[in-house]
Amino acid sequence: MTIACEYRPGLEGVPATQSSISYVDGQNGILEYRGINIEELAKHSSFIETAYLLIWGVLPTSDELAEFKHEIQFHRRLKYRIRDMMKCFPESGHPMDALQACAAALGLFYSRRALDDPAYIRAAVVRLLAKIPTMVAAFQLMRKGNDPIQPRDDLDYSANFLYMLTEQEPDPIAARIFDACLILHAEHTINASTFSAMVTASTLTDPYAVIASAVGTLAGPLHGGASEEVILMLEEIGSVENVVPYVERCIERKSKIMGFGHRVYKVKDPRATILQQMAQELFDKSGHAEQDQYYDIAVALEKAVAERLAHKGIYPNVDFYSGLVYRKLGIPTDLYTPVFAIARVAGWLAHWKEQLEENRIFRPTQIFTGTHNVPYVAIDKRRSSQDIQLYADLVAP
Ligand code: SDX
Repeated sequence: MTIACEYRPGLEGVPATQSSISYVDGQNGILEYRGINIEELAKHSSFIETAYLLIWGVLPTSDELAEFKHEIQFHRRLKYRIRDMMKCFPESGHPMDALQACAAALGLFYSRRALDDPAYIRAAVVRLLAKIPTMVAAFQLMRKGNDPIQPRDDLDYSANFLYMLTEQEPDPIAARIFDACLILHAEHTINASTFSAMVTASTLTDPYAVIASAVGTLAGPLHGGASEEVILMLEEIGSVENVVPYVERCIERKSKIMGFGHRVYKVKDPRATILQQMAQELFDKSGHAEQDQYYDIAVALEKAVAERLAHKGIYPNVDFYSGLVYRKLGIPTDLYTPVFAIARVAGWLAHWKEQLEENRIFRPTQIFTGTHNVPYVAIDKRRSSQDIQLYADLVAP
């Protein structure tokens, strides 16, 4: 059955699925996970509880949450072969490439595929939620020439990640703010990396390949890679005085200002508002030290962009303030997107599971713009395209 419909670049506005996982109202700046407002979850929930909600559709009872947490704690450690594989990675490699390789490698250890078995689904969910943070932290230590440190079962999900990353037990407020960041980044309807996960899932491959596809997609600067680009942009601007000239130059060159704009939100991303409040809380708590001038530059940049681009619906998105929070938590700039991936694994797994429940392999069509009946020319009769262009120019009327 073919349904004729117009071609929409980037599939803008084209439904790719039916889903009950999350909802975005881009005109009013609303984001809900399974119907619960993101502000409520960021204030009251934990990342693991939110992951359970996204994947199984309901908030867990205290026993269900305790069991889920215990399973995840038990599976945090990596196979030694994965650690050995990381030792071969170049220190200069980007952590997102390391993460994508390790996520795919998990499939080598859990090769049995039983997508119709709920126990298999749960085991894959637990392993991926449990091991992705350990992979990110392990690569960070190993690229500095150090041995990775083992997870600590007495620390909760976010505190344990920060401990494995920094080798120090984190301040409870910092761990709480980081956990809220994970909640904010966990899910966002059919964004590029989630769509990538769904397409891969629709072929019935293993969940580790699905997550590896999504990690590769998230890494791009137009998607999850923007948070790293935002900090590099703020460093390039350097001072509040340079903000307006920078914005004017971007507009003149029609170049994108990182951390701004969104395919769906035409107002300020509600996640950016919460992250800005967190950044302010961290600065108030630890003192607005000299090196935090980037927060002042960011606030000035938001104002300058609003004055010039608000009419186009260009406002801060989730990536604009997240880097300032992570920077304050001592996370290296090129780990911001891997942190985004740690959170978004919850959403990717929720859509993987939902796709399997009513699967049909993705296979869109195209509008053909080529030519037909082109003759095959023997290689000694061919002319290079440059020659053809030169000849065309010579004989042009
Ligand atoms: C994420 O989809 C999701 O949900 C993603 C995400 C999630 O949680 O999964 O929310 C996470 O990826 C957030 C986005 C992070 N990316 C960036 O911050 C990179 C900078 N942003 C842009 O590249 C852009 O805004 C996109 C990619 C996010 C959205 O691009 P669209 O919807 O394809 O918009 P567009 O490129 O067609 O632009 C429409 C107009 C253009 O102007 P005109 O040609 O019409 O005059 O808006 C302008 C653009 O030039 N514009 C910008 C801009 N983004 C759009 N102008 C300046 N700076 C920007 N950032």
